Amino acid sequence: MSDVDLRHLLSQMTFEEKIGQLMQYNTHLFTDSTAEITGPLTDLGLDEAMLPFVGSVLNFEDAAQMRAIQQAHLQQDRLKIPMLFMMDVIHGYRTVFPIPLALSGSFDPELVRDCSAMAAKEAAASGVHVTFTPMVDLSRDARWGRVMEGGGEDPLLTAVMGVAQVQGFQGDDLRDTDRIAACVKHFAAYGAPEAGRDYYAVELSERLLRERYFPAYRACIEAGAPMVMASFNTLNGIPAVANEWLMNDILRGEWGFDGVVISDYDAVEELCVHGVAADKKDAAKQAMRCGCDIEMCSAAYASHLKELTQEGVLTTEQIDAAVLRVLMLKDRLGLFEDPYRGASTQKEQAVCLSPAHRALARKAAQESAVLLKNNGVLPLSEDVQTVAVIGPFADSRDLLGAWSLRGDTSEGVTVSEGLAARLPHARILTAPACSNLCGNTDQSGFEAALTAAENADAVVLCLGEPSDYSGEGSSRATLDLPGAQLTLAREVIRVNPRTAVVLFGGRPLALTELDAVAPAILHMWFPGHEGGNAVASLLLGDENPSGKLAMSFPKTVGQCPLSYDRLMSGRPIQASQEDTFLKFRSNYIDSGNLPLYPFGYGLSYSRFEYESLTLDRRTLTADGTLTVTVTVFNNSDRHGKEVVQLYMRDLVASVARPVQQLIAFDKIALAPFERKSVSFTVREEMLRFVDARNHLVSEAGEFEVSTGYADHLLLTERFSLQ
Ligand code: NOJ
Repeated sequence: MSDVDLRHLLSQMTFEEKIGQLMQYNTHLFTDSTAEITGPLTDLGLDEAMLPFVGSVLNFEDAAQMRAIQQAHLQQDRLKIPMLFMMDVIHGYRTVFPIPLALSGSFDPELVRDCSAMAAKEAAASGVHVTFTPMVDLSRDARWGRVMEGGGEDPLLTAVMGVAQVQGFQGDDLRDTDRIAACVKHFAAYGAPEAGRDYYAVELSERLLRERYFPAYRACIEAGAPMVMASFNTLNGIPAVANEWLMNDILRGEWGFDGVVISDYDAVEELCVHGVAADKKDAAKQAMRCGCDIEMCSAAYASHLKELTQEGVLTTEQIDAAVLRVLMLKDRLGLFEDPYRGASTQKEQAVCLSPAHRALARKAAQESAVLLKNNGVLPLSEDVQTVAVIGPFADSRDLLGAWSLRGDTSEGVTVSEGLAARLPHARILTAPACSNLCGNTDQSGFEAALTAAENADAVVLCLGEPSDYSGEGSSRATLDLPGAQLTLAREVIRVNPRTAVVLFGGRPLALTELDAVAPAILHMWFPGHEGGNAVASLLLGDENPSGKLAMSFPKTVGQCPLSYDRLMSGRPIQASQEDTFLKFRSNYIDSGNLPLYPFGYGLSYSRFEYESLTLDRRTLTADGTLTVTVTVFNNSDRHGKEVVQLYMRDLVASVARPVQQLIAFDKIALAPFERKSVSFTVREEMLRFVDARNHLVSEAGEFEVSTGYADHLLLTERFSLQ
């Protein structure tokens, strides 16, 4: 439809019909699978007469249900405006890929694009129109359960991976019925709640918001995401959905965002709970004034927008602008031509969990696994005759991770199954040994596990956190391996030192004690449906681990929040003083400052040597470029992949600058004994920061550029910016 047609449609709408476009409800408010749309909606305080006007739906089962709801809606809707169907398609739909934090650690945006495109194809077959992803909330606190859903602690990596997701989901044209629209969330800074407690307050300076937290949201919008979700949290005292500075000045004003803004679930009515709105009417007024177009799952708009407009508190223009934005999105998705966008049961059967999708899921799990430690027990020999697979994840299907709404755990491959398929000649002894729940210290399964360990050529010890320990509403105050798992690890390793630990989980844990005893640790995160096969291929060395950490792993929970791009402080300690307590220095009495495993860290079975870092010039001008070339040598007889990372440091500036900041990266493949050079182009804009007046600037002076990974910068050179 043209703009004129959409405006004409808007002009024909009654006030109730308009408000309907601004409401989103869960499927359970509509009938299950067939025909009519009915209530009751009294629990929401919603007038049932509004239901036929509802413009969008949150979550549904499948294509059959979507078609039934859409059809029933269109029969009742005078103007035949199709509903939008939205869902959290976070890391796959029917085929589940690794969690986003793991995928981010692949440092491979093309892979992430491919995974998102496949997820879009499956979701579109069921009739999903919009996914509530990417989540680009910078996360630096492992206690926060939702770290699993984001890109980690680095602004650049988070932005690159967010953009890759937008591109993968959306392709070039939203009318393509294999694609769906992306909704960037949670605007803003939802990932920085105090003490890592979900939904809690965020207090951040405007300078930090602009410099580190905002860029990823903005990058996703510039990549074409047509929707933004306003977050639950207060930002400097004001909940996002009613935060005029955030929504009007920054998002709509400075960034010129003219797409649809949706509240998070219930967040409009929660303005009352926060204590910034007197009642639902006040909440509706504030959210509408802040440009929140759709209210998710509460009924302040449905109950009060009409009254507020009649009283002149809100204007018809404000309502019309919001409705028009929703209609435009429906039009961009081609819903007026085909309200079902080709979704059908047949299409679902053809695309979902296809061999190609499973193959990509396996590749993604292989590329995002991180080898944290290896004293030589890995890779396992092909000749192992007996392998003991021990621990709560030994034969567990809980490998999909949170936010796998349509993923069926029974379709997944466990570690034991993966190893049995890879080693058909070997005996696989499986022993779960203990629980992975906090507080469950039952050790009655230890005896069988230790007997299996004693009788095995190799032990694969599968430990970690259950999937519901991360994700929404799953913050932790401790970061230990839950239950008796650490004790189990100590005992198993004592009876059989040929033990490799395989870890699962959605957040960095404090692994200091495990690291002290484990001969090898392979971190799989939540790898998705192909987890067990991916583990087997990595343990046996068919694939060479190449993932790096997108979030630092603390030594102890007390270091949180933690990120590699820290400031110097006036009283720093040297890395060599990490284990010494120095009075009147910025350190802890009882712990070092550095993480156990830093951002960008991850081992390989290859041995990569960083041979040189060269600059093509020593002075960079504002409109010029500087080329940095890094040469890496694979000094081993194994094919491998390495993530070459480029960091910079601004040595003197008007605002204290981080000791290291990632400015570029590239993942390269190296054949045995191959040497490769990677060139990065450095431009003035990569050296910018937000100054004390909140302006994005660069300042002339000396800079360092380094390669390696956080806290282990191997080669460093200097240049100056003129
Ligand atoms: C609440 C979550 O915070 C958000 O990320 C999600 O998209 C909505 N619920 C809808 O499920």
